[in-house]
Amino acid sequence: MEKKSIFSAIQATGKLTLGNYLGAIHNWVKLQDEFACTYAIADLHTLTVRNNPETIRQNIMDLLAVLLAAGVDPNKATIFIQSHVAAHSQMAWVLNCYTYMGELSRMTQFKDKSAKHADNINAGLFTYPVLMAGDILLYKADLVPVGEDQRQHIEITRDIAERFNKLYGETFVIPEPYILGVGARVMGLQNPTSKMSKSSTIPNDSIYLTDTKDEIVKKIKKAVTDSEGIVRYDVENKPGISNLISIYGAIQNKTKEEVEKEFENANYGSFKNAVAEAVVGVIEPLQQKYQEIIKDTTYMEKVYREGAKKAEVIANETMREVYEKIGLVL
Ligand code: TYM
Repeated sequence: MEKKSIFSAIQATGKLTLGNYLGAIHNWVKLQDEFACTYAIADLHTLTVRNNPETIRQNIMDLLAVLLAAGVDPNKATIFIQSHVAAHSQMAWVLNCYTYMGELSRMTQFKDKSAKHADNINAGLFTYPVLMAGDILLYKADLVPVGEDQRQHIEITRDIAERFNKLYGETFVIPEPYILGVGARVMGLQNPTSKMSKSSTIPNDSIYLTDTKDEIVKKIKKAVTDSEGIVRYDVENKPGISNLISIYGAIQNKTKEEVEKEFENANYGSFKNAVAEAVVGVIEPLQQKYQEIIKDTTYMEKVYREGAKKAEVIANETMREVYEKIGLVL
């Protein structure tokens, strides 16, 4: 049987968090053996927020180096930079014409981001989910591995694809969100009722993949808990401890119940030590590999050039099919 296909992408916005790692990168590595995986560095998506050109270029290379350091293997998965495959922009335009203002207005990420960047609510911020839908639909992906926060964007992708298929006949595969396990929703350490985010302004709230061991240990020690003193998963009443259980479980490949059992008799101090050790255990080796890879610009260029070549074959074929169906002259 043919392998199911997977597409996913991460924005190259600089600081990656432990949430990005456990919600996405960690799973990308696991999935590449079993599925036909295409992974993109979403550089076009980052243009919705202003940044200087040098920083943008650096962020793209940084993300590629992190992915390779984490174990994404270009011999198993296709890995490329979104803007290198022109079909992403072409598809986004076409799909814009099959997406309604009303449905885009309901996107929670748009509402959040426009509140945060009130001085720059550009049209790109609004149509961002359409570019994302195009990314996925170009590769006819069956599954899209993402964290919980991206679920709504996969739902709109499905709606757009179904609408198009109804009008023009079977064209797109309707993708399923593939939201894996306990790491799918890593919350802030200080504010465990909202997701751990790259742009958090609360000190010690997010763990970054660039943090030192001391910073990680300090942040986890300071993470908010509760007064019950029992390592028990209960998101409503114990969001802080529940989040630490999720983080530990995602790293150690354990369920919530297994983590509760392991720390049945532990106090919060020793539990936090174990969580910190687990987090440092993944981040430190990743940083060491990253340092080697980021220097090897020849290797990185080879990876992204070859990746784009492979991606382009599939993307261009879908693009032609779409142009033909909607009535453009080929
Ligand atoms: P982005 O770059 O914000 O996040 C990348 C991935 O990390 C996951 N993630 C989290 N998972 C668990 N806990 C968290 N606190 C956390 N924070 C982030 C996200 O769910 C995501 O899987 N629009 C997308 C990028 C994108 C894309 C696509 C994704 C562009 N095109 C096509 C899938 C398919 C984004 O901004 O993700």
